[in-house]
Amino acid sequence: VTPKSLLNNPVALVSQEMNTLAKNIVALMGSGHPTLNRVTGYYFEAEGKKVRPMLVLLLSRALAEIPVEERNRIKVDYSDVPEDPVYSSPPQSLLFQHPAKNISPLHILHGIKPLNPLTRGPEPLPEKFDEERGILPKQRRLAEIVEMIHTASLLHDDVIDYSDTRRGRASGNVAFTNKMAVLAGDFLLGRATVSISRLRNPEVVELVSNSIANLVEGEFMQLKNLATDGDVSTIANGSQKVPPPSQKLLNAAHEYRVPTESSQITQEAMITTAFEYYLHKTYLKTAALISKSCRAAAILSGAQQPVVEECYNFGKNLGICFQLVDDMLDFTVSANDLGKPAGADLQLGIATAPVLYAWKEDISLGPLIQRNFSQPGDAERAAEAVVNHGGIHKTHELAVEYRDRALANLRNALPDSDARSALEFLTNSILTRRK
Ligand code: FPP
Ligand code: MG
Ligand code: MG
Repeated sequence: VTPKSLLNNPVALVSQEMNTLAKNIVALMGSGHPTLNRVTGYYFEAEGKKVRPMLVLLLSRALAEIPVEERNRIKVDYSDVPEDPVYSSPPQSLLFQHPAKNISPLHILHGIKPLNPLTRGPEPLPEKFDEERGILPKQRRLAEIVEMIHTASLLHDDVIDYSDTRRGRASGNVAFTNKMAVLAGDFLLGRATVSISRLRNPEVVELVSNSIANLVEGEFMQLKNLATDGDVSTIANGSQKVPPPSQKLLNAAHEYRVPTESSQITQEAMITTAFEYYLHKTYLKTAALISKSCRAAAILSGAQQPVVEECYNFGKNLGICFQLVDDMLDFTVSANDLGKPAGADLQLGIATAPVLYAWKEDISLGPLIQRNFSQPGDAERAAEAVVNHGGIHKTHELAVEYRDRALANLRNALPDSDARSALEFLTNSILTRRK
């Protein structure tokens, strides 16, 4: 029986797994290059919320409470699948000349020597069906993979958003340059992909791989202000080293956006379309990774189809709720509390739920949204309209709706257990978070 205090702290139920998570990730991402190790490890050094792995682990634990008779046994022997025989480890002479230089702060923290021939990636995991109702090795690995993909996307996101801070310190692009941040994100993705394939479950490989594509598509859907592209430092210096893209490219990137006023549709229809666009983008950029990893955790547990679907919808509803709150906090919380830039969305030209709600009440915001708040005073006027028309409150209400759907999915999918209670607690806390 779990003590009551543990139920109010979802981390406690999976604290052992969360502790080994960080250590395992470090092992999964070691490379032969010392600086690459520093950049890939950089965001893991500062404490993130780790919502995604926590969800996968708690869900895995809750799924294990489903009686074994009600689950499919998925015992497939993939031992004949050969590992990648081509290692790209550096020549021995390079490796052992300066071994100390290959150690990043993270490796020191966890007492891990970066394996050079670690470029092989992780060993395949044992295929065993869980009789003891615990979290399966593959589900733990899934939690690690999901955090790696998320971190890769943050490294890229901060380049795209010209962010200069993350988790209370300099962002990867500022600490190491855009180029290194992009490459480190790519390296993390590559390693995550090796780990996905070593799960030796084709359905899970497809799901998680697709979630990476979804992230990119979602991010593409919100590209704005391409003409200002450049390094954070380039922008700060006021010089433009990167030639602006042609008007044709800008139009092409925006073609899948809110229709312009010249089309034969009403303002109301435009706002509805903008909202649908926003929610679909939100699913792709934030909820897809969460929902597909929840689905993957269920598949790995051998859960039957209806349970798999509920787990997927749980992740989807929770993911959308999570991003709605994120978009709200961008208006309400200071950069200091967030540990990253505040008010960033309007500055980037992005209209999120609070602004879209304000637009419903004040149609004169339409042109500002169309021009990505690019004229002096646009961002300020939009922020004021959000306050005057209750955009924050309405966004919160919408987040509550998604939260409630997520809670219903949990109850439909899972038997009552400590792990399910912890998941409910975590779901509720998404709404009250301040960062
Ligand atoms: C944070 O959003 C960013 C995301 C949820 C996804 C970013 C995805 C990419 C950059 C595509 C590339 C993906 C991979 C896998 C390399 P935000 O900017 O609204 O949040 P923030 O305030 O935390 O920056
Ligand atoms: Mg972004
Ligand atoms: Mg960002």
